[in-house]
Amino acid sequence: MQSTYAQTYAAWQADPEGFWRGIAETLHWSRPADTVFDAGDGVYGRWFIGAETNTCFNCVDRHVADGRGGQKALIYDSPMTGKVASFTYEEMLAEVVAVSAALRRLGVGKGDRVILYMPMVPEAVFSMLACARLGAIHSVVFGGFAAHELATRIDDFDAKLIIAASCGLEPGRTVAYMPLVDHAIELARIKPEHCLVLQRPELQAELKPGRDVDFTSAVAAEKAAGTSVACTPVKATDPLYILYTSGTTGQPKGVVRDNGGHMVALKWSMENIYGVKPGEVFWAASDIGWVVGHSYIVYGPLLAGNTTILFEGKPVGTPDAGTYWRVIADHDVKVMFTAPTAFRAIRRDDPEGEFARKYDLSGFRALFLAGERADSETIKWAERILDVPVIDHWWQTETGWPVAANPLGLGLLPVKYGSPAVPLPGYTIEVLDDEGHPVPAGTLGNIVVRLPLPPGNLVTFWNADERFRAACLEEFPGYYKTADAGYMDEDGYMFIMARTDDIINCAGHRLSTGAMEEACALHPDVAECAVIGIADELKGQVPCGFLVLKNKVARDVREIEREVISLVREEIGPVAAFKSVMIVQRLPKTRSGKILRGTMQKIADGLPWKMPATIDDPVILEEITAVLQGRGLHHPG
Ligand code: COA
Ligand code: AMP
Repeated sequence: MQSTYAQTYAAWQADPEGFWRGIAETLHWSRPADTVFDAGDGVYGRWFIGAETNTCFNCVDRHVADGRGGQKALIYDSPMTGKVASFTYEEMLAEVVAVSAALRRLGVGKGDRVILYMPMVPEAVFSMLACARLGAIHSVVFGGFAAHELATRIDDFDAKLIIAASCGLEPGRTVAYMPLVDHAIELARIKPEHCLVLQRPELQAELKPGRDVDFTSAVAAEKAAGTSVACTPVKATDPLYILYTSGTTGQPKGVVRDNGGHMVALKWSMENIYGVKPGEVFWAASDIGWVVGHSYIVYGPLLAGNTTILFEGKPVGTPDAGTYWRVIADHDVKVMFTAPTAFRAIRRDDPEGEFARKYDLSGFRALFLAGERADSETIKWAERILDVPVIDHWWQTETGWPVAANPLGLGLLPVKYGSPAVPLPGYTIEVLDDEGHPVPAGTLGNIVVRLPLPPGNLVTFWNADERFRAACLEEFPGYYKTADAGYMDEDGYMFIMARTDDIINCAGHRLSTGAMEEACALHPDVAECAVIGIADELKGQVPCGFLVLKNKVARDVREIEREVISLVREEIGPVAAFKSVMIVQRLPKTRSGKILRGTMQKIADGLPWKMPATIDDPVILEEITAVLQGRGLHHPG
């Protein structure tokens, strides 16, 4: 198929408002927009001013009304529990209405804030949609985050209610959620009124009388009573959800996603970027706690009338490296999306791709990868094993949907390994030097998006317009700063090379080294610390902590290291994957006292590095190199 990318991008450029208006017309609105885009509203402008709609209606009710009620909406496939279940759009509607009724009975209404702390179970998806139905705002907190992170979010979000499950399941380990919820509520200033708790058979929680409500019986009671709950109309500009993402400090940023623009952008993306048609099966192997889960397990596929897959398992070990192929074959998955790290894990266990040959993958059309840099080796390996296009694409929590991709639905462009291809309609990307001047093609710089951001992108940070302005809009006036560095080649292909801030990407998870430093600093013996991300074959990057101890600490240093590792796990959670830490005498700094994390990282990764002109004491870098060598963590380059 001849690619229509260039014409589509040009059509958007010629009339951006008309472009998005046309897509909006394929969705349901209880009141149409007065203005498609108002540059004077919000921090940088707002989309679909005056319109009213309901995202849940568009994800569920609309399809039932249009005759899609008998089609599968959601397939739950859980190698962790051995369960497979599916829900048609009609069945999903009944579930969502019942959860909405239970929430309403607990006092949840329009504008109220609900935190979800749930594993990959269908009830989590129903709960997200139920919040949307009521006009309540949800915030899903990933199960790998610990109590302190949950508490920070409860406070920032001013949560009225928490929906939790009794446990999550990790290979070889059952994670009891309610003790973490209890501890988070203890730590938080805001005390949510209720917790709606889904008891899983693998581990039951003890419910606190007065506060906790059993999810299953509350929902069953509403079903038995036949309670109906209509969709509450909300403004297109009202928040649908807040998703916290790592910032440079321990205080996470609450990315605000609105209802109207989000629906429009995601609906367009399913057919045009991912190339799936209504009725086809799409699978994003991620977690609902991440943006990929929000956009491409829940909202995108459902808005587009696809069947989505909710997979509770890992790419390897549940039970083997063939589990992805089994899911694709069993459920007739047409297009899949996951993080490159998952494929590195599969390749490590099954280098020849023998498992793939055991399954009928003839219906499978494409694999999309994002979340971290996709190394060409992994892409080529996946192409060989699967014999379908493997498409690297680039985006972030803030944007909510891809910024650059090779758009399968518009017809593939030539592939360039190492590049997530071209900017999509909605995005004008430029690469600027630190002074804000455009750099020539092929030159590394700061990747920025010209304002306004398209529909579906963040509109601000929750209750923090100023922080949003300062973090994202101030440095390059007129642009959104992605905090990614890279370049664009002469054909307009993007190359994403590194973050420009202290964020690291570990197993496709975005983590703040600043937050880890704050956790390390809580240890009574730690005087100073620096956390950097070092290259890792499987996970892309893993954090590594350098600690300077207080004077006169006369304890076994290995014990202190172990304590600090536990502390980070307790404070941030297992997802931090913080497993290596080393005690050093001093940290390398500039004369003005800034820790030279970048240079330390280059040394650890065996990359060429230059002695920073502003360094206070060059000898310290030799000390750091020696410590890394001593731990076998120094790559000779
Ligand atoms: N709840 C509780 N703990 C969790 C968790 C959850 N939802 N998710 C992960 N963890 C834990 C893991 O069990 C692990 O704990 P451990 O230190 O006791 O082993 C720790 O957090 C680190 O997890 P992770 O970095 O994911 O490593 P892993 O070794 O468990 O798995 C991969 C490695 C590559 C298999 C896995 O990261 C993966 O499948 N990633 C790709 C898909 C993906 O999820 N991408 C996200 C964005 S698209
Ligand atoms: P998150 O907000 O968790 O989705 O992480 C977004 C960040 O992951 C981006 O800012 C990039 O640094 C990185 N990232 C995502 N996709 C890619 C990609 N295809 N190539 C390189 N880096 C990526």
